[in-house]
Amino acid sequence: MDRKRYSWLKFFVPLVALLLLFTSVTECLQCFQCGTTSEFDECKDDWSGLVNTSIGITDKYAKDCTAANVNWTRCMILESEGSGRQTLFHRGCHDGVTFSKLYSHHRFENIPPNNESTCATIVETREFVCFRFCDTDYCNGPQPPIKTDPCTGNATYFDIDPATCGTARVQQAVSVMELLIVCAVVIFLGLFMV
Ligand SMILES: *[C@@H]1O[C@H](CO)[C@@H](O)[C@H](O)[C@H]1NC(C)=O
Ligand SMILES: *[C@@H]1O[C@H](CO)[C@@H](O)[C@H](O)[C@H]1NC(C)=O
Ligand SMILES: *[C@@H]1O[C@H](CO)[C@@H](O)[C@H](O)[C@H]1NC(C)=O
Ligand SMILES: *[C@@H]1O[C@H](CO)[C@@H](O)[C@H](O)[C@H]1NC(C)=O
Repeated sequence: MDRKRYSWLKFFVPLVALLLLFTSVTECLQCFQCGTTSEFDECKDDWSGLVNTSIGITDKYAKDCTAANVNWTRCMILESEGSGRQTLFHRGCHDGVTFSKLYSHHRFENIPPNNESTCATIVETREFVCFRFCDTDYCNGPQPPIKTDPCTGNATYFDIDPATCGTARVQQAVSVMELLIVCAVVIFLGLFMV
């Protein structure tokens, strides 16, 4: 009985350590994701829905870019114009180096992630194409209004009820993954230590 318990621990402790290490070195980038070929569309204009996505009220326009592809370390806005009208508006992820034939132009090589537009006319399609890259969460769309955190007076995006300042702080500090691991350890101890 004792030996069995010990061998479980030998397996479990390194696993937990590994998971903790993994979660702490894994960076992830969230971007807005949507696209449209029409000139008027919620992808462009749904300011409230986009902001609600960035503050976690909905996941309608959310994309976990680095989880989908480790190389997608940038958020992007791609716009394209042809025959005098907008033909594409696309918010999404990008690696900064891979462009389809439709968007291949030397100007698009080495675009810095500074959220400024870089544009070029593609010879084959005669489309006027603009890319905009940035590398912070939900930077490829409307930014939420700055609100003041009543707990510290610091500017944050979150509405925190002053009565719950303590819990809010704790919740912010402990990531979901760490909570899961703690739960697993507690259950494990409960099961095998009695
Ligand atoms: C965004 O969230 C606010 C607050 O919950 C809500 O009033 C508003 O309708 C939401 N907007 C959209 C487009 O869902
Ligand atoms: C990421 O980029 C590297 C180097 O360019 C490449 O070898 C790898 O296949 C890419 N990974 C994915 C998931 O596309
Ligand atoms: C980047 O540019 C887009 C398009 O103008 C804008 O909506 C967004 O708020 C900008 N991002 C930041 C972080 O300023
Ligand atoms: C929050 O505000 C306090 C003082 O008001 C300051 O010392 C602290 O550095 C701020 N924290 C952040 C994350 O801005």
